[in-house]
Amino acid sequence: MSVSKDVKRITTKTLIKMKKSGEKIAMLTGYDFSMARILNAADIDIILVGDSASNVIAGHETTLPITLDQMIYHATSVVKAVDKAFVVVDLPFGTYQGDSQRALDSAIRIMKESGAHGVKMEGGKEIQESIVRILSAGIPVMGHLGLTPQSIYKFGTYTVRAKEEQEAKTLRKDAVLLEQLGVMGIVLEKIPAMLAKEVAESVSIPIIGIGAGPHVDGQVLVTHDMLGITNEFHPRFLRKYTNVFDTSVEAIKQYIKDVKSSDFPNSEEQY
Ligand code: KIV
Repeated sequence: MSVSKDVKRITTKTLIKMKKSGEKIAMLTGYDFSMARILNAADIDIILVGDSASNVIAGHETTLPITLDQMIYHATSVVKAVDKAFVVVDLPFGTYQGDSQRALDSAIRIMKESGAHGVKMEGGKEIQESIVRILSAGIPVMGHLGLTPQSIYKFGTYTVRAKEEQEAKTLRKDAVLLEQLGVMGIVLEKIPAMLAKEVAESVSIPIIGIGAGPHVDGQVLVTHDMLGITNEFHPRFLRKYTNVFDTSVEAIKQYIKDVKSSDFPNSEEQY
């Protein structure tokens, strides 16, 4: 049975029903109108306007530099392209940690100015106050635990998180807390598959994994990575479905050749 096929719009309720029925949730990132049209045509369930735009689009080394204005710019373009998917937007670094009023203001700006359907925030107990405040305004919040790239300078590396029992215990507790607060779902990034399974079984909200194994309620990847547009990122969890980088280089080389040899434009490609 497919819950998602039967609805016009994916909502937080649809996602809970998908978890209950065992239908896996497919989520991918989107940052611009054209890519979001492709995701829309493919019938994706959730589009994440991820702060990975900081790496993929802006070329920064980390997700930290991207601003709220830039996230709103990306989200606005994505929302225009989409009929059905739930669009969730990352609150960027520095716009919600340690100040719940600022967090609420940031989330309201995203919702008002972009038309997106929810926000995603990295962290557990330490951002509890901000989550509660945003939820109290009726804004759906998605959590993000495990490897949280906005804390990369605390972790020091992008290696697998929560391999040690102490960190796993905190993660389990944070997941339960986030559910109790009322978040719509949680992204678990780069943690052992058996820990992700345990978490997914312990809560009734959808758990979406990235590098968290198969025993969760859905998967998310960075679209530019899974399409092979980026070509310098090869983590074990990434499946590349095509290689747009190489095919694009070939196509552009052919174009250059055609221009230089005056093969392009031909008699039918002119007025
Ligand atoms: O910003 C992003 O793309 C993300 C995913 C890796 C989950 O947060």
